[in-house]
Amino acid sequence: MNPAELASWVSAAQGAFLAAPDLESLKTARLAHLGDKSPIALASRSLGSLSPEEKAATGKIVGEAKAAITTSLDLRTKELEIERDKKVLLEEVVDITLPLKRSHRGGLHPISIIKNEVSDFFIEQGFAVEEGPELESGWLNFDALNIPADHPARTMQDTFFVEPVESGMVLRTHTSPVQIRTMLTQEPPIYVVCPGRTFRADELDATHSPVFHQVEGLVIDKGITMAHLKGTLDNFARHMFGPEVTTRLRPSFFPFTEPSAEVDIFFNNRWIEWGGCGMVNPKVLATCGIDTDVYSGFAFGMGLERTLMVRHGITDMHDIVEGDLRFTRQFGVGL
Ligand code: DAH
Repeated sequence: MNPAELASWVSAAQGAFLAAPDLESLKTARLAHLGDKSPIALASRSLGSLSPEEKAATGKIVGEAKAAITTSLDLRTKELEIERDKKVLLEEVVDITLPLKRSHRGGLHPISIIKNEVSDFFIEQGFAVEEGPELESGWLNFDALNIPADHPARTMQDTFFVEPVESGMVLRTHTSPVQIRTMLTQEPPIYVVCPGRTFRADELDATHSPVFHQVEGLVIDKGITMAHLKGTLDNFARHMFGPEVTTRLRPSFFPFTEPSAEVDIFFNNRWIEWGGCGMVNPKVLATCGIDTDVYSGFAFGMGLERTLMVRHGITDMHDIVEGDLRFTRQFGVGL
């Protein structure tokens, strides 16, 4: 082996390393030019058979050639490692500015939200929440509430009767039968609210829906007067419509209350009818086995759709009924 031969090995190795496009190929080039069977390795190994003088001289140039090959390998390794790291950074980059795939969580309907709001308000004051069935007996929906058989509310126009008609079952036209159910099963004192779904044979239009919601309130205790009713309604109205709201009771008639009144609110500069109320008719108390010499009570009933429409300036019932998310989302998901 002579210096020219060694120089050709060095330049062959350098050329191969430079030509390696990645670390994997560089590994193959390294085996070929520095591995056990590479010319430079064989040359190192053959030094043993040389005389001491030759060994010193040849050993030096073989050592230098090997060092040159190793240096060039190291350089190329570094270069390719930097390239690989750059590529990894680029390939694994996360674009945090990309828009999310939005998936909306379910939400409560505004009627459910307001129903919970009403229930929570009364629960805070020690009331219980009672619920009754939507398919109700005519006796509980009408008779026990002192609504006589010839009352207009009972006619086919208002009430959904359920077949067979002889069953006497109806889709409840109001939440008032829950009053009766409560008085029949609980001893006074009674403080309950009864929110729920109610049904009347109305066409769906801007202000009516055949399926709607009411909340009923009932208090039976010793010494209950109309002042308690007014105070309760005032607080309730302020909770629903804000501290500025005023209420007024207007004489009216309901078979199940005596005296009866409509409750109006002064909201957005005008008087608006909100619901019905009154002192529970002693006839109704007696039907439920409550001693009218000891107990008296008040009741009230409001439409939840109406409450929502007045409070939020909703002018079309269709918006509440149709379930369009663009409407519903304005009330927040309520979860
Ligand atoms: N049940 C009545 C209705 O559906 C509302 C109502 C009025 C309920 C007066 C009451 C009340 O409890 O005292 O129109």
